[in-house]
Amino acid sequence: MEEQILRSNSEAQTIMLGEQFATELRLGDVVAIRGELGAGKTEFVKGVCDYFAVSDLVTSPTFTIINQYTGITPDGDSIKIYHLDLYRIETPDQLNEVGFDDCVFAHDAIKLVEWSEKAHHLLPESHWDVLITTDPLDEESRTINIHRPKTV
Ligand SMILES: Nc1ncnc2c1ncn2[C@@H]1O[C@H](COP(=O)(O)OP(=O)(O)O)[C@@H](O)[C@H]1O
Ligand SMILES: [Mg+2]
Repeated sequence: MEEQILRSNSEAQTIMLGEQFATELRLGDVVAIRGELGAGKTEFVKGVCDYFAVSDLVTSPTFTIINQYTGITPDGDSIKIYHLDLYRIETPDQLNEVGFDDCVFAHDAIKLVEWSEKAHHLLPESHWDVLITTDPLDEESRTINIHRPKTV
């Protein structure tokens, strides 16, 4: 299946959908996560990190741009997770300064990128695309659109 459309009716459900999604991830994968401020990108990331039993506090790395966590796969292997938030990035130079390229192409980690549209031109061609949209009529409702990479 190329595209999955999921519904969430609460913060907890978005976290759970992130956990389910994480079962599909492989080392080296890039997940581009888009959606307006407050859409639930970080909650979704929390779910992915829960699946990998990350014990660090998962928050939007808005001021540090990149957070690194260590998780555990179901097989008991240690796994590195980069959590990027590009909200404050304004120029391609700034992406360079934070080492975006090295991070996003790292083969030894899973990379979760909030505000990925800010680095649209620098993303590896093959990546997961997660778009979270809100519903103007229901404050807690979200639609989560997931496109899998073409070559997974
Ligand atoms: N269905 C939902 N899924 C995710 N978050 C929700 C949902 N309903 C309400 N919320 C609230 O929306 C906010 C999402 O915050 P966050 O994940 O930090 O957004 P983003 O990272 O996209 O800016 C949280 O305050 C959360 O409680
Ligand atoms: Mg966020």
